[in-house]
Amino acid sequence: MAERNASSSIKVVFRKSSVLFFTTTSILFLMSWFFVLRSTGRVRFIDHKLLPNSKLFSTFDGSSNLQNVESAFWNRAILVDSEDVEAAGESGTINPIEKGKVVQHGGGKCNRNDELVLKVFMYDLPPEFHFGLLGWKPSGNSVWPDVRSNIPGYPGGLNLQHSIEFWLTLDILASEFPHSSKARTVIRVRNSSEADIIFVPFFSSLSYNRFGRVKSNDKKKTMNKLLQEELVKYLTAQEEWKRSGGKDHLILAHHPNSMLEARMKLWPATFILSDFGRYPTSIANVEKDVIAPYKHLISSYVNDNSTFDSRPTLLYFQGAIYRKDGGLARQELFYLLKDEKDAHFSFGSIQNDGIEKATEGMRASKFCLNVAGDTPSSNRLFDAIASHCVPVIISDAIELPYEDVLDYSEFCIFVRTSDAIKENYLINLIRGIGKEEWTQMWNKLKEVEHFFEFHFPSKENDAVHMIWQAVARKVPALKLKFNRSKRFSRSPPSLDTELKSIPAPRNFW
Ligand SMILES: *[C@@H]1O[C@H](CO)[C@@H](O)[C@H](O)[C@H]1NC(C)=O
Ligand SMILES: *[C@@H]1O[C@H](CO)[C@@H](O)[C@H](O)[C@H]1NC(C)=O
Ligand SMILES: *[C@@H]1O[C@H](CO)[C@@H](O)[C@H](O)[C@H]1NC(C)=O
Repeated sequence: MAERNASSSIKVVFRKSSVLFFTTTSILFLMSWFFVLRSTGRVRFIDHKLLPNSKLFSTFDGSSNLQNVESAFWNRAILVDSEDVEAAGESGTINPIEKGKVVQHGGGKCNRNDELVLKVFMYDLPPEFHFGLLGWKPSGNSVWPDVRSNIPGYPGGLNLQHSIEFWLTLDILASEFPHSSKARTVIRVRNSSEADIIFVPFFSSLSYNRFGRVKSNDKKKTMNKLLQEELVKYLTAQEEWKRSGGKDHLILAHHPNSMLEARMKLWPATFILSDFGRYPTSIANVEKDVIAPYKHLISSYVNDNSTFDSRPTLLYFQGAIYRKDGGLARQELFYLLKDEKDAHFSFGSIQNDGIEKATEGMRASKFCLNVAGDTPSSNRLFDAIASHCVPVIISDAIELPYEDVLDYSEFCIFVRTSDAIKENYLINLIRGIGKEEWTQMWNKLKEVEHFFEFHFPSKENDAVHMIWQAVARKVPALKLKFNRSKRFSRSPPSLDTELKSIPAPRNFW
């Protein structure tokens, strides 16, 4: 018995001391781990990693509108100047989403200008695809006009809203001349192997507008169709196209009806579009394509001294009430709003003298309605922005330019179609927005309007720069896709690279 007691008490002592030993060593281990972390700076590193996230919330709580504008500026700076980037980092206005982008572009450190400017190789397509459509004729053996002395004019009126092709091509041509623009975002390279993207200079919107309509009883193909056929033939014969299957090509199709035929064959390329309304998602989608703004037709409201109270109309709508596709909401809205005395409906297109009335109307209104019509997007949104009339967007499938760096909810009101057609919903929502909130949005409109202005020569942060930068943000993903597509290059070619007139696969992304 005594022996057993002794041995069991020894066991207890042993057990107790081993628990103590274990606890002590654990504490020591934890402490030493903590010290190691401190001395190697990992704790500090973790601190740094956490900070931007907390800024994420402070940026998005809407408490400071200015911060968001600055972060948008900052993102553009990744293509311009590394000092600006550093400065923005210190003052804490970085949007962390954009911070991720810098890592993508510059591998952690921001590089100097030449590495961040988009390098573009442009095909020397015959003039009939571009400036020839404007009546320009080449002299000598260049297929391009000398943009220092001779810029062919683009036709006005409604054509202008899709003139993106014109501005981008001019900007590429101008990039070859020194002093053309201080803040260049694009540079033309002559060696396609050095290019980030291969630009296809076909003025497809103009081709559709000018030569896309069949005369009655005319069975012949339109010139627009012929040009598209020629373009497909030309492109698929090029070394550059064969190399990538078109994956690094940039094609303009801003008018919703442009490139209707060719797009089914050129779908691996990145398109510049106004929306995806008439595209299957396999042909065009947010991942690979770039949305560009319409060029507004109403002139910019310079020295806008208006106020909430000086704009008498509450809600302005200009356009057709009856549209064929997707435009049913317009009729419903018209019947819901027609008896509101401070809502204004103006019917028809804004061509000719209509444009003056629309200018007056939008500048005299607090809010401007943008309802989906034949397509989800329309020029009206950009007219509203230029008029500093807060857009009310009722278009569930709309796509907006550079939305990855611009928060439209700061200067637009979005309403779901299903809500908008509920009785009194829309008018109550609009009436609920007071002077202070409206003025904030109006100020924001004035801050962002230059992102939607087209210039030649291009200007810093104008639409031309913003579109190039949107393209530049696509480039890393395009290169990845390109390299992945080479995995099976030793196997027999697939349909993908052969480019017969095959329908696009449903989910090629
Ligand atoms: C084009 O660039 C590639 C890669 O930099 C180079 O190997 C090639 O020699 C260049 N071609 C010409 C014609 O300069
Ligand atoms: C804005 O300025 C114009 C011309 O300078 C003037 O006629 C108008 O009354 C001003 N509007 C307001 C709201 O002050
Ligand atoms: C694709 O491959 C090239 C080498 O041919 C390489 O320089 C480039 O970094 C690769 N791109 C990506 C996105 O991995």
